[in-house]
Amino acid sequence: MNTKVVMVDINNIDKDRIEEAGKILREGGLVAFPTETVYGLGANALDAEAVKKIFVAKGRPQDNPLIVHVADFDIKPLVKDVPEIAHKLMEKFWPGPLTIILNKSAIVPEITSANLPSVGIRMPSNIIARELIKAAGVPVAAPSANISGRPSPTEAQRCIEDLEGRVDLILGGGSCQVGLESTIVDCTVYPPCVLRPGGITLEMLREIEPSIYVDPAIMLKPEENLKPKAPGMKYRHYAPKAPLKIIEGDLKKTIAKINEIVQNNIDENKKVGILATDESVDKYSNALVISLGSRHNMREIGKNLFEALRSFDDAKVDIILSESFEENEFGAAVMNRLRKSAGFDIIKV
Ligand code: TXA
Ligand code: MG
Repeated sequence: MNTKVVMVDINNIDKDRIEEAGKILREGGLVAFPTETVYGLGANALDAEAVKKIFVAKGRPQDNPLIVHVADFDIKPLVKDVPEIAHKLMEKFWPGPLTIILNKSAIVPEITSANLPSVGIRMPSNIIARELIKAAGVPVAAPSANISGRPSPTEAQRCIEDLEGRVDLILGGGSCQVGLESTIVDCTVYPPCVLRPGGITLEMLREIEPSIYVDPAIMLKPEENLKPKAPGMKYRHYAPKAPLKIIEGDLKKTIAKINEIVQNNIDENKKVGILATDESVDKYSNALVISLGSRHNMREIGKNLFEALRSFDDAKVDIILSESFEENEFGAAVMNRLRKSAGFDIIKV
């Protein structure tokens, strides 16, 4: 397939380009586009044939449901009912990085929701994404725009690497500001349950509804797992090509342990990548060291995580070592993705 690549300036959106992309979606094609979380790979959510193409392009397991993206608060046609709490969350956090799971209506095809009775819905804050959905005139099903299992793309170039030749159009539109996928809250149950941590933190959600809690399955290793309620959370995900190990504990001890492992790998002629922070970046040597940002700014760390993992792939490192982070607020989302990237390979110090 011939993939067209088109760039859009988020500060000066070219309407013709958006119209062209919207038309492709409306007619059953695939379009990759930027959102504030990660790039998405979109298709008409109500067209089963179009949605099927997403699973093929990504190599995605069929039992993993897609999130439906909207540009309008009137989601009634897509769902059976909208509970009061879902209304409150939409009002407070849409448009933005929050996906709400509701009982689906009959117009949402089985393939979109992977045969579940529910559907995840989100209104992105990225203006290119919303203009595209409006231009399409249909709700847009969109998983992250990566080959299944790989780190989600937060730059247009990464979509091109993964999806060129597999989709009709890639709309490039700069870097994603959040950098990690949306928070998912299941509102088909009471109290509502967080199925995936993200840009809207548990602390923010609890200001609206104090009873919200986090699905205990999502921080556990697959083998000790209670089955996670979001089917996608059970797969190995976000994985760089080289094995990733997390060193967890006091920062000084972490730095010492990482340096020790670096030395062992150098002795075996191996190339090491290190995920560090501004506070520690100058404490390492003999490795490719990438600082994710300052520990005082977890938003910055999360924004840079997936791109850093992909840079280690480019550099063809043999092993990646990462520091760990506190799990409050946005740190919960960062550690969730980091642990999954590592396949739960954690060394405690
Ligand atoms: O930020 C995001 O949400 C991005 C951008 C493109 O919007 N999309 C995204 O999609 O991360 P994806 O497909 O990579 O992740 C969707 C997650 C999966 O873990 C899936 O299992 C879960 O959402 N999910 C979708 N529908 C669900 C449902 N009805 N019930 C439970 N989990 C659901
Ligand atoms: Mg994904």
